[in-house]
Amino acid sequence: MQKASLTIRKPDDWHVHLRDGAMLEAVAASTAKTFGRAIVMPNLSPPVTTVTAAEAYRQRILQALPPEPGFTPLITAYLTDASDPAELERGFNAGVLTACKLYPANATTNSAAGVTAINGITPVFETLERIGMPLLIHGEVTDPAIDIFDREAVFIERHLEPLVKRHPGLKVVFEHITTADAADFVANGPATLAATITPHHLHINRNALFQGGLRPDMYCLPVAKRELHRIALRAAATSGNPKFFLGTDSAPHGRGAKESACGCAGIFCAPHALESYATAFEQENALDKLEGFASEFGPRFYGLPLNEGSITLVREPQSVPERLQLADGSGGPVALVPFHAGETLPWRIAA
Ligand code: NCD
Ligand code: ZN
Repeated sequence: MQKASLTIRKPDDWHVHLRDGAMLEAVAASTAKTFGRAIVMPNLSPPVTTVTAAEAYRQRILQALPPEPGFTPLITAYLTDASDPAELERGFNAGVLTACKLYPANATTNSAAGVTAINGITPVFETLERIGMPLLIHGEVTDPAIDIFDREAVFIERHLEPLVKRHPGLKVVFEHITTADAADFVANGPATLAATITPHHLHINRNALFQGGLRPDMYCLPVAKRELHRIALRAAATSGNPKFFLGTDSAPHGRGAKESACGCAGIFCAPHALESYATAFEQENALDKLEGFASEFGPRFYGLPLNEGSITLVREPQSVPERLQLADGSGGPVALVPFHAGETLPWRIAA
């Protein structure tokens, strides 16, 4: 018998890009309507590197939402070669910073100020390890000699494995994993190592980028890989292993930035994220594993309480629009193409 509805504890999104300014105002509600908390990525321009900048960004996010949104943004610090461990510790102790994000320099959107040599910021890792502040990693090498589809796997052997060995107490989240190599590495790694998995990497493989022509809305980083990797990610997400949890990596870009000769990486999956995960889990006969993945394993890894309250999905077909017109703070329309555009999803969130 197919389930007619599914009620789970209120979930969190452990990886999202809420942006800033008009885009923030347009997209914040898409995340806040579903999730209790979200780890908000700091790759703004300029990036969020200080406690003052983090607190100001947290306030801008709250201002972009209705009063009493029932949503808590968790702010992260963007690591650079010049990051000051004492500043990060101060932000963590003050409850302003929840985690630090490591972007290898030039790996992705707004990462030019990222870390050029991972070994160069050892004092930062030592501090995070001592205070229990999670390190979130965009795990791709930037070496142009490495094929783009191999950059995550090579990052593991060149950087992640040595890092995890050097800092056995450091909590590390390998963000938005896209390969069987990453899923295996995390599953076989220490309890201090976890990973987020996006909805899109559970649904698409790299063919989606080229289906009938070049598809900029299927382009994100790390880029989708071969089908065998998608299958491995589905197995990891639905395994019930608490090392794998929900992180959408929803990353909106305006149409001009997507439909361009050098289009930006990022898939805007926030609007139907939970329905998208539920669809994938059901296809794997694992709907009973959704609650752990979406609502329990993330907070346990971060050492935060589980959300109170619940959310209900009902089995009612939902057509995803080709394009969303979202209002920014001044009522101006921001046009975005959501993930699953033009498709029908079998689940909808109950009102
Ligand atoms: C993200 C963005 O646009 O900020 N893009 C993406 O493709 N995921 C950055 C990131 O997480 O790599
Ligand atoms: Zn991201």
